[in-house]
Amino acid sequence: MTPPPSRADCQGWDARDPLARIRDKFRLKPGVIYLDGNSLGALTHNSAACTRAMIEDEWGHDLVRSWNVHGWFDLPHRLGAKIAPLIGAAADEVLVADSTSVNLFKLASAAAMTRGTRHRIVTESGNFPTDIYVLQGLAALLGGAIEVVAAPRSELLSRIDESTFLVVLTHIHYKTAELLDLQAITSHAHAQGARILWDLSHSVGALAVDLGAARADFAVGCTYKYLNGGPGSPAFLYVRRDLQDTICPGLAAWMGHVAPFEFADDYEPAPGMARYRSGTPSLIAFAALEGALGIWDDIDLRDVRRKSEALSELFIARVEAVSGSGLALASPREPARRGSHVALTHARGYELMQALIARGVIGDFRAPDVVRFSFTPLYLRFVDVWEAVTILGEVLAALDCSELVRRSGVT
Ligand SMILES: Cc1ncc(COP(=O)(O)O)c(C=O)c1O
Repeated sequence: MTPPPSRADCQGWDARDPLARIRDKFRLKPGVIYLDGNSLGALTHNSAACTRAMIEDEWGHDLVRSWNVHGWFDLPHRLGAKIAPLIGAAADEVLVADSTSVNLFKLASAAAMTRGTRHRIVTESGNFPTDIYVLQGLAALLGGAIEVVAAPRSELLSRIDESTFLVVLTHIHYKTAELLDLQAITSHAHAQGARILWDLSHSVGALAVDLGAARADFAVGCTYKYLNGGPGSPAFLYVRRDLQDTICPGLAAWMGHVAPFEFADDYEPAPGMARYRSGTPSLIAFAALEGALGIWDDIDLRDVRRKSEALSELFIARVEAVSGSGLALASPREPARRGSHVALTHARGYELMQALIARGVIGDFRAPDVVRFSFTPLYLRFVDVWEAVTILGEVLAALDCSELVRRSGVT
């Protein structure tokens, strides 16, 4: 049997890590081990600089002329083109706009308008709530003409049939981190004549996704997690090129018009991804995202995935050695079936996470009993994971006699 890794092993891995050079691009607080990059990624120096430049040099200097002089109008397309290689898409298949929730609505409504005689959307029960709520809202808007089926994972494939016009699934589960087989499920949906929309919120920047090889129809995702775009940074949406001009988002708005500055009364959609724009983009948030995306140019996603698996394997192996902890693994044990975070359950999960945060180990809590720890290879070291589990052991030992803690609004 191989001996468990030691702290010296971790230092050795850090010394040989091809991504170690990227850590300096982040503004990290000494004394903090940040394990919540699946919720809000860390700040890059680049993001801070780009945001400052947009405010002071562009807005502050050139005012409204900046839309042309600094290319503000095309920024949603330029940032989409930067995200495209991370998800196996072409540069003109991805747009940055709005939030993930709004983009979900735009694409699900577009699919609903071209559904023919089909009337069902299939999604997963226990999916991230917004994915289900947006679809339920769409069904209500359409007066019950469509139906949303939220099926458990084990029944997903069998529920996709000739009545299904759209399948909406999250590639990496927000709680358990369990991965779905994007290629196989996409093929299955297509074989049943349905379109598929993937939520890549926990995938983009965590591992390579190949929407093109799978011929997936649509995708959406957050940029404030593994892409480090900043709190509330704009989301992205992907539409396969051959579909782009055949559908229209249910949210038709002026920036998606073929000639927005003609100010015509009648809506005429722009060609390509431009029709998926809605209103004026939140440019300052776009600047923060632009800065964060700048660091991806020379990063190999295979290195990212390899390190993410190694970090989370180290974490799980050390947690398993904390005997009698009351912790149980809620993520798949095999690294190939997991995304880049690890979920554990604990009866006093909220108190546990609060105590960890007080000791500088930041993860998060998801009701009723899940604590999540994310392993972000761009700024996390193996020694950080080592230290985090040491502190976790100490916190658990003290937890039995600690008081119950009142929950904050954001957990
Ligand atoms: C899978 C998934 N989809 C969507 C969202 C939220 O999207 P929005 O940016 O609209 O809040 C999250 C947020 O954590 C998520 O985990």
